[in-house]
Amino acid sequence: MKPRASVGVGAAALSGLLFLGTTASAQSRVTYYEHVAPILQNHCMSCHQPAGKNLGSLVAPMALTSYEEARPWARAIARKVKAGDMPPWFADGPRGVFSNERGLTAKEIETLAAWADAGAPGGDKSLAPPSVPDLTVERDSGGYSLGTPDLIVKMPKPYFITDESEDVQGTFHTKIPEDLLPQDVFIRAWEFRAGTYKAGQDTVHHMCGGVRPPGFVENPADDAEGEGASGLSMGCIAGGSEPAQLPPDFGMELKKGSTITFNMHYYKQAGPNSGYWNQAEIGFYFAKGPVKYKVHSKSIGTTGFEIPPHKINYRIGAAETLQKDTLYMSYWPHAHLRATAAKYTATYPDGRKEVLLNVPRYDQSWQVTYKLKQPKLLPKGTRIDVEMLYDNSADRGVKRQFDPNVTVRNGPRTQDEMMLGFVSYVELEPGQSPPTTQQQ
Ligand code: HEC
Repeated sequence: MKPRASVGVGAAALSGLLFLGTTASAQSRVTYYEHVAPILQNHCMSCHQPAGKNLGSLVAPMALTSYEEARPWARAIARKVKAGDMPPWFADGPRGVFSNERGLTAKEIETLAAWADAGAPGGDKSLAPPSVPDLTVERDSGGYSLGTPDLIVKMPKPYFITDESEDVQGTFHTKIPEDLLPQDVFIRAWEFRAGTYKAGQDTVHHMCGGVRPPGFVENPADDAEGEGASGLSMGCIAGGSEPAQLPPDFGMELKKGSTITFNMHYYKQAGPNSGYWNQAEIGFYFAKGPVKYKVHSKSIGTTGFEIPPHKINYRIGAAETLQKDTLYMSYWPHAHLRATAAKYTATYPDGRKEVLLNVPRYDQSWQVTYKLKQPKLLPKGTRIDVEMLYDNSADRGVKRQFDPNVTVRNGPRTQDEMMLGFVSYVELEPGQSPPTTQQQ
C-alpha cells in the first residue's frame, strides 16, 4: 500500500505561511466553492466519481464531486498534486501535442495546496461553478457515450473473480460470429466497457483489447495483454478513459472472422462476498464513408532480452526504419513491473533527431496510450528508436512486489517483462497527402 499523508509536509507549509504574513491572508481566502471546485471539475471528476458512476466502469478510490466528499481528502489532494501524481500523466515531452494530455498549472497546484493549508474551507456556495452534466447515467445503463455501436463484442462468457482473489490477470478471446460480422468493415471508433461495478470495491483495474486476424488459434504462451505480434492493438483503458475515435477519412480494418482479445486486470480486497462476475465488452462504430487512410498498429520492440538480477537502469532498445511516408497517430509503450522509463525518438533521413515521446516515470498500472492531436508525418527512411529502462533492484522489488534475484526475460505474466513500443500508423501511398483535420 502507498504511504498516507505525512504530517511533516503540512507543518512545513504552514510555518511558511505564517512567516509570509500577506501570502497567508491571501491564501486563507481560498475556498472550495469559488476556487477548488472548478479545478476538481476540470481535472479530477472524470475519474473520481461516486460508486458506480465511473466512465467505462473503472474506479478511482474515492469521489471528489462535492465539498463533503473532497474536504476529508484535502491534505492527500495537496500532496498528490504537488508530487505530480495526480492527475495521472507520465510523459514530460513533448507538451501540447497529445489530445489526452492531463496536467495542472502551477497556479492550480498552489490553489489546492493553499486550500488544504487553510483547513479546507467551503466558502460561499453561490460561487460554485455550474455542476457538470451527468454524462455517466447513460453509460451506467449499459449505454455507450458515442451512441449505439454497430457491433458489440463481449468476453466469451461471464468470468467469476472469487472472494479470495486480490490481483488477477486474465486473457479471453472471442471469435466474432459470422452473423454479427458477415463482411469486412472499417472501424472509425471503439469504446471499452469494463462492465462490472461492485459497490465499495475496486474491480476492473484496467482493460486492454486487441484484434487477431481470421484463423487465429489461441495459444496461452502469447496471451500477453491483448497485443500479440500478429494482431492490431486497440490500447488499454484505466479509470476515466475516453472512447477512441479516428479522424474523418481514417479507419481500422476489421475482417470477418477476426478474434477480439480482452486482457483484464482485476484488483480488489479479498473478503467474504467480495467476489463478482465480469463480462467486459467493446463497442465498434463502423466508418460511414470511404476510408482514405487505413490505420494499422504494430510494436517496435524485442523479445530477446535478459535483465540481470539487481540491475538498475538496464536499457533495452529496438528500432526500425520506415519504408514509406508514414503518419503516426498514437504511441503506447508497454512493459511490466520493472520498467521505469520509455522513449521514442525519430532520426530523420537528414540526421536530425526529434523526441516523439518521453516518459521518464513509467508506471505499468496505468497503460496510457498517447494520442496525437495531429497525426505526425514521418518521411520514408526515418529511423524510429524505442528505448526502455528497467530496474530489477531490491528496492523496487519491495514496492512493486517482484523478486529481484532472478534474471527476467520476455513473457506474458506480470512477473515477466516486455519491451514493446506500440504505434498506430498510416502508410501513405505514393502521391497521397496527409490530412489537415485534428484527431479527437
Ligand atoms: C485518469 C483517472 C484519474 C484522474 C483524472 C485523477 N485521478 Fe486521482 N486517482 C485515480 C486512481 C485510479 C487512484 C488510485 C490509484 C493511485 O493512487 O495511484 C487515484 C488516487 C488519488 C488520490 C489518493 C487516494 C488515496 O487513497 O490516498 C488522491 C488524493 C487523488 N487521486 C486526487 C486526485 C486529484 C486532486 C485529481 C485532479 C487534479 C485526480 N486525482 C485526478 C484516478 C484519477
